[in-house]
Amino acid sequence: MTADSPRVRFGIDGLDQMLGGGLLEKSICSIIGTYGTGKTTLALHFAHEGLKNGEKVIYISLDEREEMLYQDMERKGWDIEEVRNTSIYVVKLDPTDFTLSINHLKNELPQLIREIGAQRVIIDPISLFEGLFTDEATRRKELFRFIEIMRDEACTLILTSETRENSSYASKYALVEYMADTVILLRYVRPNKLAEVHPAVEVAKMRGSDHSRGVKPYELLRDQVQVYFEANVF
Ligand SMILES: Nc1ncnc2c1ncn2[C@@H]1O[C@H](COP(=O)(O)OP(=O)(O)O)[C@@H](O)[C@H]1O
Ligand SMILES: [Mg+2]
Repeated sequence: MTADSPRVRFGIDGLDQMLGGGLLEKSICSIIGTYGTGKTTLALHFAHEGLKNGEKVIYISLDEREEMLYQDMERKGWDIEEVRNTSIYVVKLDPTDFTLSINHLKNELPQLIREIGAQRVIIDPISLFEGLFTDEATRRKELFRFIEIMRDEACTLILTSETRENSSYASKYALVEYMADTVILLRYVRPNKLAEVHPAVEVAKMRGSDHSRGVKPYELLRDQVQVYFEANVF
């Protein structure tokens, strides 16, 4: 993973521009934002961009059911029927089943990635996996181990996370942003006291690459995410 590595595009033009062309191949990216900011939407676009390139995608969902995600994709006008379970595998995990979820992620996911040759993997949201551990030290150790396991795989990984209470900058458990190579923040900003709030995206960190430091407004449209790269919120 170096700046010369091939770029893995999100398929969202303004965001790819902010990332200097896209994520670095085989890197780990976290998308952090409160509910409704568009984490799942961004992750779906990342998946779809892979499908358009003929890549294989695994989408591990801890909150939304498989059918809901497939319906979301169809509503965006994407033809999913043909690729469903041949190029894209959506797997819903039950975050209340501690042992099963952990076993799926730590043991079965690496095997599945290799079996199907997945280049793009999404875990949405990783915060529900982190929440399985009640003890802070165990949570840190388990997340670290999981990320180490994933670094051996030949895929680019997206981890989404809710934000921490009273913060729009930190992930729910304030761990994933330290372990990920790239951190994308989605948050609402008020450009000035009299203005309305806007959703805005920021690349807070990107190991091994140049990236935009700007805070750019974005809009979730029916079939695309529009990031206004030329605009500045401030
Ligand atoms: N199926 C849908 N139909 C209409 N709007 C949707 C749908 N899914 C998401 N949205 C819109 O997109 C926003 C972001 O949703 P989502 O990507 O699921 O956010 P997050 O994963 O961050 O909670 C929602 O607040 C809603 O406005
Ligand atoms: Mg979501």
